Amino acid sequence: MAVIGAERFVPPGADMRELREAVDACRGCALYRDATQAVFGDGPADAKVMMVGEQPGAREDIAGAPFVGPAGRLLDRAMVEAGLDRKRIYVTNAVKHFKFTRPDDGKPRIHKKPGRTEVVACRPWLVAELGQVQPDLLVCLGATAAQAVLGPAFRLTQHRGEVIVPDDGDFAGCRVLATVHPAAVLRSRDQDEVYAGLVDDLGVVAKQIGGYA
Ligand code: URA
Ligand code: SF4
Repeated sequence: MAVIGAERFVPPGADMRELREAVDACRGCALYRDATQAVFGDGPADAKVMMVGEQPGAREDIAGAPFVGPAGRLLDRAMVEAGLDRKRIYVTNAVKHFKFTRPDDGKPRIHKKPGRTEVVACRPWLVAELGQVQPDLLVCLGATAAQAVLGPAFRLTQHRGEVIVPDDGDFAGCRVLATVHPAAVLRSRDQDEVYAGLVDDLGVVAKQIGGYA
């Protein structure tokens, strides 16, 4: 199937509620076919901080909300340590449908990293969310989100924790900070160190917005 992109599925002039209602009907790429539902962002539309992950995981695919599984719990803990209140942050993903493979032995579905094509196809939803929230700071969790926002040449390892303002494209003029993905902490062999790095970067976020979000 040709990847047509989400653009034509995003209702023009829609508010947050209308966007949320429309996303499940998106056929912008093939991922809608096997996923349970689209997972839109969650949180206040007037949040100062908007966080972007990669894509919903198996738990999020069932629950219909972002970051409710193990990575979400770790993120919650890191936010608290950094002085951020999740309830006051808008949390979403670069890709709205869960991409996975299904083992034939009935074991749980296995997360598959979305490709550049899917990230680009889904970006109109992210741009629409950004237009509604208009955050002071856009926080990218992991390389997929960072490259969705800052382009494929962006290197997370070199520029994590920095405030970057893109001068062209859909995110021009927006203040962006990229950090590691909470799932990368869980996968890491040195969890304490990677976790501490995440908390440090979220500390920069808290400072940027003038304290408790
Ligand atoms: N990982 C993500 O990137 N997003 C989620 O919502 C859950 C896990
Ligand atoms: Fe549309 Fe994004 Fe889902 Fe693809 S992943 S069908 S572009 S909402």
